[in-house]
Amino acid sequence: MDDYTLPFWIYLCVLTMFVGGAMKKILASHLSTAPTLVAWLGATVLVERLWAFCLPAVLLLTLLGLTCCIYSATRTGPPSTNLPAHGKAVFITGCDSGFGKAAAKRLDTLGFEVFATVLDLSGEGARELQRTCSPRLTLLQVDITQPQQVQQALLDTKAVLGLRGLWALVNNAGVCVNFGDAELSLMSNFRGCMEVNFFGTLNVTKTLLPLLRQAKGRIITISSPAGDQPFPCLAAYGASKAALNLFIDTLHHELEPWGVRVSTILPAAYKTGQSSNHAYWEQQHKQLLQSLSPALVEDYGEDYINETKELFQSHASQANPDVTPVIDTIVQALLSPQPQVRYFAGPGVGLMYFIHSYCPYSLSNLFLQKLFMKKKLMPRALRKQSGFDLNLSLHNNNNNNEEEEEEKLK
Ligand SMILES: *[C@@H]1O[C@H](CO)[C@@H](O)[C@H](O)[C@H]1NC(C)=O
Ligand SMILES: *[C@@H]1O[C@H](CO)[C@@H](O)[C@H](O)[C@H]1NC(C)=O
Repeated sequence: MDDYTLPFWIYLCVLTMFVGGAMKKILASHLSTAPTLVAWLGATVLVERLWAFCLPAVLLLTLLGLTCCIYSATRTGPPSTNLPAHGKAVFITGCDSGFGKAAAKRLDTLGFEVFATVLDLSGEGARELQRTCSPRLTLLQVDITQPQQVQQALLDTKAVLGLRGLWALVNNAGVCVNFGDAELSLMSNFRGCMEVNFFGTLNVTKTLLPLLRQAKGRIITISSPAGDQPFPCLAAYGASKAALNLFIDTLHHELEPWGVRVSTILPAAYKTGQSSNHAYWEQQHKQLLQSLSPALVEDYGEDYINETKELFQSHASQANPDVTPVIDTIVQALLSPQPQVRYFAGPGVGLMYFIHSYCPYSLSNLFLQKLFMKKKLMPRALRKQSGFDLNLSLHNNNNNNEEEEEEKLK
């Protein structure tokens, strides 16, 4: 027991606090805390090094005191009380299903005045909202890619609001038209994603901004980690979300003087919208096979294209159906006195961003490839090539043998 001296215990306390601080930051999963996390980890290493010098107890006690000061200084204070929901009007796009429908219901329950846009006013989602929500909720038919429908929604919203401003816009509507290698994604898929996720959201945001500025309100946008990180097979969707992220981040600066707060929510994979609609993806797949040039199908192979589709479907079917973390985050972004610029909603997203931001490219790349797409097949041409190489070497061996035999014959 002689080994367990006072300095050892003090050292252990300091280390525990640093490791605890780091763990707390990891568990909180906020990107904004990632630099603090790095500082914590750095300090941990520093303390560990200092220990090697076997510092005297007095010095270590000073260090412990200092640590306590830093710890209490960086600790977040008691959660400030949220703003009241009552009397606040919120406009949400894409409420036919998924996050939009769930958010519309929750916000209505909380007392917000909800303007929920749907693609189909007679659809299942719209009818459910009508049935379950209070008369405060207004349903609007809007395809966000149709500027005249967006304009009409503005007029309808103004008619209800009168002279009041709009507290918040929740940009939720979005699509993922296709899933597959970029070379196999049709131009129409790239344009389709851009049209909804980028241009649609852009037009809605610009249209409602005067009302949002008037209320010194908020813009909350549901984006995707695929807009920041190169997920395999999501080039079309990811590129449109990347454009959206940059637009929203720019708005964040520009609207600060107006008092409009801008937040982006980055959710984990959830079962929403078309993602678990088997028939929809089969239809998309058939269309894709028909639209691709025979040369491309030949190079990649139909079995390869089929495998991609099946991987995506199994991925989608395993996604979490409980969207509560995302809805909680939307509420937080709406009512927190100090909304964050970026929110990570759902398990693992914070960790994913941490790896992407602070680990070497090779590691984050490996993480994306191994975790997201576990392809077994290579494109057909590449398989043929390695088979061809094999044949060639066998053939060469045979040739060599023949030559040898010929030589023997001579
Ligand atoms: C929305 O898009 C349409 C068509 O491009 C355009 O005429 C309209 O001005 C846009 N709205 C805003 C507010 O910019
Ligand atoms: C690929 O899928 C299509 C459509 O689902 C099917 O008709 C075809 O037989 C499949 N091809 C291969 C090689 O598995």
